[in-house]
Amino acid sequence: MFEFSPYAYEFHEDPYPTYRRLREEAPVYHNDKLDFWAISRHADVMAAFKDPKRFSNSHGVSIDPLARGPRARAGTSFLAMDPPEHTRFRSIVARSFTPRRVAALEPRIRELTAARLDELVGSGGFDAIKDFSGKLPMDVISEMLGVPAADRDALRGWADQLVHREEGVFDVPPEAIVSFGKMRSYFVELIARLRREPGDDLLSSLVAMGESGQGLSDDDLYSFCNLMVVAGNETTTKLLGNALYWLWRNPEQRALLQADLTQIPASIEETLRYDNSTQALMRVMLEDVEIAGSTIPAGDHVLLLVGSANRDPDVFARPDDFTIGRDTTEMLSFGRGTHFCMGAALARLEARVAFEEWWKRFPDYEVRAESVVRVHSVNVRGFASLPVTV
Ligand code: HEM
Repeated sequence: MFEFSPYAYEFHEDPYPTYRRLREEAPVYHNDKLDFWAISRHADVMAAFKDPKRFSNSHGVSIDPLARGPRARAGTSFLAMDPPEHTRFRSIVARSFTPRRVAALEPRIRELTAARLDELVGSGGFDAIKDFSGKLPMDVISEMLGVPAADRDALRGWADQLVHREEGVFDVPPEAIVSFGKMRSYFVELIARLRREPGDDLLSSLVAMGESGQGLSDDDLYSFCNLMVVAGNETTTKLLGNALYWLWRNPEQRALLQADLTQIPASIEETLRYDNSTQALMRVMLEDVEIAGSTIPAGDHVLLLVGSANRDPDVFARPDDFTIGRDTTEMLSFGRGTHFCMGAALARLEARVAFEEWWKRFPDYEVRAESVVRVHSVNVRGFASLPVTV
């Protein structure tokens, strides 16, 4: 049996051949050394998402031994809860993420995008991650939460540290724990400040609700802020970078898109399917479950390989082709069911606006392939650095 480790740098370079082998040879895979299961076929991943009574989020969604377990909710809030508790938490914050509320953010997102991109016009070249896609999602989340502009770089730095893994490290490293602590202390202070001087932002309104006894406690608010930064920032940054990269690698698709920019949303959907920034989510089993002749016992941890499900040939014809405009309705990039990504509409809006503005300014960008650097993380896939010439 071959070894599949989501920590291996070689796997990060190109996980798709490994996923194919898993689907074909070991659709219910067990890693004895790291003690986790992995399921890779679309039908199995979909079924797991829709079965929260047996595939539980209560140990969090990361397989890092230090992060997984009942304490996971301190870092990832209601993402690490099951119904009915999850339902109560989610409904309190979900009001700010309805399609109508999100659509209302478009003019401000466009201003933030234009401000970032205008600085780069005439530069001849820049790092599409460090100078653009790594900035915009944090700008947007920060505005929603009420984080002042001056604090955003620090917050972004801690968030990056949380997901980065050096080669050969199979757990949450000390740097990530320190960053987690700093982020938490930051939000403790911010919430105290917003309590004294409330603003017109999501966090101020959650603080006010908490005081009236109907909302979240302070501890719950800190975890929620962490969740927003981790879930909303890294994923969207990587989506933008991945789209720029794959369009550049597929010149015919890029030409089709540039001839008809109404296809921008379709290009985003295909990027989500083809190379999603969230590759895997963990569940803990509440009962024994049999899949394809193997039994995953209660208490064990299983990875749902979203990145693999999105390339399953049983669902997507020619799955390894990047094809704008294909039917992507079955992709699992934002999950399914109970924990379906609360920020999906926001991520799609940010990406659409980002590319509408990008193509106006940089229609001729080229990636400097020799200088591209990948992020090394168990959950997140994308680039740490994506130098382009314009
Ligand atoms: C490309 C961008 C994004 C991707 C690929 C993505 C992916 C996902 C996935 C797969 C889940 C489900 C996790 C599970 O089933 O355990 C999820 C949940 C979540 N996402 Fe996103 N996400 C993105 C952007 C965002 C943004 C921009 C925000 C918020 C500002 C956000 C907030 C959340 C939250 C709060 C949850 C937890 C939902 C729950 O547990 O009920 N995400 N996301």
